[in-house]
Amino acid sequence: MDVKFDLDARIERRGSDSYKWDDNEKLFGRSDLLPFWVADMDFATPQPILDAISARCEHPVLGYGIRSDEYFTAFQDWFRKRHQWDIPRHWMTFSPPSSIVGIHGVISMLTKPGETIAVPTPTYGPLIDLVVKNDRSIIRSSLREDEDGRFHLDVADLESKLEADTRLIVFCSPNNPVGRVFTRDELEALADLANRRNLIVVSDEVHCDLVMPGHRHIPYGTVGGERSVTVVSPNKTFNTAGIPQATLIMPDPELRDRYKAYLDRMQLNHDSTFGAEGMVAGYRHCALWLDDVITYIAGNHQFAADYLEEHVAGVCKVTAEATYLGWLDFRETGLAQADVMDRLVNIGGVGLYSGTDFGAEGEGFFRMNLACPRALLEQGLEGIRKAMK
Ligand SMILES: Cc1ncc(COP(=O)(O)O)c(C=O)c1O
Repeated sequence: MDVKFDLDARIERRGSDSYKWDDNEKLFGRSDLLPFWVADMDFATPQPILDAISARCEHPVLGYGIRSDEYFTAFQDWFRKRHQWDIPRHWMTFSPPSSIVGIHGVISMLTKPGETIAVPTPTYGPLIDLVVKNDRSIIRSSLREDEDGRFHLDVADLESKLEADTRLIVFCSPNNPVGRVFTRDELEALADLANRRNLIVVSDEVHCDLVMPGHRHIPYGTVGGERSVTVVSPNKTFNTAGIPQATLIMPDPELRDRYKAYLDRMQLNHDSTFGAEGMVAGYRHCALWLDDVITYIAGNHQFAADYLEEHVAGVCKVTAEATYLGWLDFRETGLAQADVMDRLVNIGGVGLYSGTDFGAEGEGFFRMNLACPRALLEQGLEGIRKAMK
């Protein structure tokens, strides 16, 4: 494999207050698991980001900051080059704590408790939680699985389920957990529905940079027009979830003003200094690192698929077009979800997310994070083999 960065290096994360490595007891009832659950990478965050943070520390005051011109242009240049999207500076709005908090803001500004929000599922669990735990009523539209095990956006199903008060669709593109990169046809059908029914689409695109060779992510904002909110972040791209950064791209001036009023109400004014430094360094200096990571992860997807096919009867992996997340299909084992979980944890010694964390459609599936050195992935797959023997 032609990668220049050392992605095979095993980095000890236990003891670094890592959610993934130091919180297993709470989630799985034991602390000695190999964790393949929450979505961060076990690779080192790229050196230019670490250097930029160290360099900032040479100035001894870490007070409130502002967004520099370079902050905006680094962001714009990245999206122009990687996604062929020219984003005017005034479309950019922010959510300093995280993408998810930004989406919470959009939900709370556009809907009232009791109203419906449509969500294609399975999807990233917190997107479901944002709807349900904020007392909105969720309309689920299942992605349609074809005979090759590929999942498709079912816009006709989505439309058939809309209610009179539905104003918002919360969409995850590329999809976490199934790893789909939606085609232009799918996105145009969604945009057509949104326009006809006067709906706003919130498109969570935090995995947009992690697209596997042969696929191309199309930002919803480039097909969905003004009535869209596209949410992006460098956190998945460069493994910087601990220094959050999130941008919400809003072409519509009225939406933007309402969102800015929400930020003002919440007094969400200042980014993390390290988050801002990290974002600029990532977008300016880490494209080659990302290209290597994508090559490596594509190799991990293949490795996991081959391993499961060869060694684990009844378990296969859905082909991933994006993300470093493997969507593993256990349905042929005929085992109940809780039984598989118990075997994975207590026999295999591995921690994976249950598919049901991503909606009821995830029954029979588990999600495995593959952003780790190949040798660690192999150990995790051996754990699955042991568990399913
Ligand atoms: C689809 C998706 N959206 C949002 C997030 C979280 O992003 P943030 O930490 O910026 O809220 C994740 C993290 O796994 C994710 O997979």
